[in-house]
Amino acid sequence: MHRVIAIDGPAASGKSSVARLLAQRLGFEYVNSGALYRALTWHVLQNGVALHNREAIARLAGAARVQFHDSRVLINGTDSTVHLRDNAVNSAVSLVSQVPQVRAVVNGLLRGYARERDAVIEGRDIGSAVFPATAFKFYIDASPEVRWQRRAAQGEHDTITARDELDSARTIAPLIIAPDADLIDTSALSIDEVSREILRRLHGKGLAQAG
Ligand code: CDP
Repeated sequence: MHRVIAIDGPAASGKSSVARLLAQRLGFEYVNSGALYRALTWHVLQNGVALHNREAIARLAGAARVQFHDSRVLINGTDSTVHLRDNAVNSAVSLVSQVPQVRAVVNGLLRGYARERDAVIEGRDIGSAVFPATAFKFYIDASPEVRWQRRAAQGEHDTITARDELDSARTIAPLIIAPDADLIDTSALSIDEVSREILRRLHGKGLAQAG
């Protein structure tokens, strides 16, 4: 049985950096589920599909051949990685990720991947919807000001408030804190401190040697 560590939380809460560092320290694979939603969104935009045309989005996602590793995603053999943080993708991803068929495609990929190896998977619904049975769930948060500053420091024009509102309000797999998730506020903590705190808690749950 392979192990999944779920790291969920809102935009720019530090999930990616923490999840990547944690995976390195544990020797697990790192998976960025947001990159899969972003790649499918890029594919939708590339094909000129209107964002209100949910049927066409569903068809396109269902037919896409997706390969991924870490934050690198190929769609039908084309590398989408450099486009994943485009402004157009930032603005459209929360709409595309509301389409049930899109979520089914991503969930199938994540579950197939985790059947084969131990993984730290970050996203919005990893602990609440995709791997509800895992004992290792964390919800990473930070104050809106800190999150906004972090994204601005990355030089990105991102619509984090709008994305958070859409992600939290959607009916399918919304951003929620799973009842059995460990909550960590990262506002005043470095990436290293957050990762050490998670390792400490995982150790307490019998999973890892903290280091
Ligand atoms: O850039 P940031 O880390 O804030 O977001 P991301 O992890 O790259 O995710 C981009 C978008 O994908 C989110 O705003 C959600 O709309 C969607 N997403 C989702 O619906 N479910 C996930 N498990 C991961 C991402």
